[in-house]
Amino acid sequence: MAEELKIADGTKENKYALLYEQIKSVVSNESDMTANMANIASMLHFTFDFLWTGFYRVVDNQLVLGPFQGPLACSRIKYGKGVCGTAWAERRTIVVDDVEQFPGHIACSSQSRSEIVVPIVKESDVKYVLDIDSAELSTFDSTDRQWLEKIVLLL
Ligand code: SME
Repeated sequence: MAEELKIADGTKENKYALLYEQIKSVVSNESDMTANMANIASMLHFTFDFLWTGFYRVVDNQLVLGPFQGPLACSRIKYGKGVCGTAWAERRTIVVDDVEQFPGHIACSSQSRSEIVVPIVKESDVKYVLDIDSAELSTFDSTDRQWLEKIVLLL
């Protein structure tokens, strides 16, 4: 398989719409979770040029780093800690406009300014989270939340 990522011109909505179809195609041809998380991280990262895009996995009641694109990241995050651990504990997507205003935010990169974390539920439990960091304030809104929640349902 040799495929190249296509990136739509125009709005964020346009970019997500084309990205979603490509992710659906990649994931429908592969059943391995790690391979799919790796390709989704890459496709999201290069479509939007985020600072950091990746997954954490719930392992032995902690979040452990999974496939990602971007700078070196924290390997482990405890339940309820940081934005990722909070999204896991509260089982809901968390959008942070300014990471400095989020109590307990874990700064893996000093360049991170805003963040979104989407929990991934399988068999009634959160098993993974998708975490995206931006170098700019207020990058993420309800458009990102809706599309990212739809994308993780493909996993
Ligand atoms: N900022 C996250 C930690 C993970 S890194 O951003 C990759 C948090 O507060 O949970």
